Amino acid sequence: MAEVLVELEQVTKEYGTTARTLALRGVSLRLEEGAFAALIGGSGSGKSTLLNILGALDRPTSGAVRIAGRELGRMSDDELADLRNTSLGFVFQFHYLLPEFSVLENVLMPRLIRRGRIDAAARRRALELLEMVGMVERQHQRANAISGGEQQRAAIARALVNDPRLVLADEPTGNLDSQNSEAVFRLLRSVNRELGTSFLIVTHDRHLASRADRLLELADGRLVADRDIRGRSEMELWPELAPPQCLMFRQGTPCCSPGVPGAGEGPAGATGG
Ligand SMILES: Nc1ncnc2c1ncn2[C@@H]1O[C@H](COP(=O)(O)OP(=O)(O)OP(=O)(O)O)[C@@H](O)[C@H]1O
Ligand SMILES: [Mg+2]
Repeated sequence: MAEVLVELEQVTKEYGTTARTLALRGVSLRLEEGAFAALIGGSGSGKSTLLNILGALDRPTSGAVRIAGRELGRMSDDELADLRNTSLGFVFQFHYLLPEFSVLENVLMPRLIRRGRIDAAARRRALELLEMVGMVERQHQRANAISGGEQQRAAIARALVNDPRLVLADEPTGNLDSQNSEAVFRLLRSVNRELGTSFLIVTHDRHLASRADRLLELADGRLVADRDIRGRSEMELWPELAPPQCLMFRQGTPCCSPGVPGAGEGPAGATGG
């Protein structure tokens, strides 16, 4: 069995002193090395809070967080910063590239922070990653002079430059059109498969979420679902969201609205039941 990479034990997070918000209410969770998990939940349910705590960007109010066997609560701020630099990668909805720097310089930035200098090996690694995300030709372009999808791909290369074990992605496709979302998602998946990097991805997009190996759901600060969804389709996971024409097929009524995907070619066997 794969090694446990991340473990949360009864984690709570309370914000504020007078007007208090209990953002996490006792979340326990384990992620194994190589996991590819999607985290869903309504606005305000605690997804970003959970990611920030896992990413050692914030401390929980109570409970324990362990990454690769190390308990975060026992680590100093310097040790946490080191953990962030060496073992974790972050991808956000807004990529936070430094606009005045080139794509290549942005990708190298975490390496510079970690090692204090950029050597030939670092440059080689950055170029490999830019190649992988299809951005090698854009390496000398300034980060504010490329498209949103390209910026997100550069941000993914940046998240991977220190070879993290875990990548935390908060709505990585939230700001992209469907074509770019698909490209970014496939990229994350291929990094997971090829490098064995673990991923926890917050998304509102059920189509993308359904393609993870594991689906976690938060509601009002509680983990209300944690399922292995390998081999499950989006329709199986959320039957209530099936488009109306599918219901019509199920009832044996031919669907003939023009332009409806799949119209007139009902799923095999769907008309009989
Ligand atoms: N820094 C903060 N100070 C006070 N309250 C906060 C802070 N950050 C988050 N909260 C509150 O904690 C709760 C959880 O917020 P969080 O950002 O984790 O939600 P989310 O699931 O990421 O939502 P969204 O989908 O809108 O990004 C919310 O009620 C939010 O208002
Ligand atoms: Mg959020």
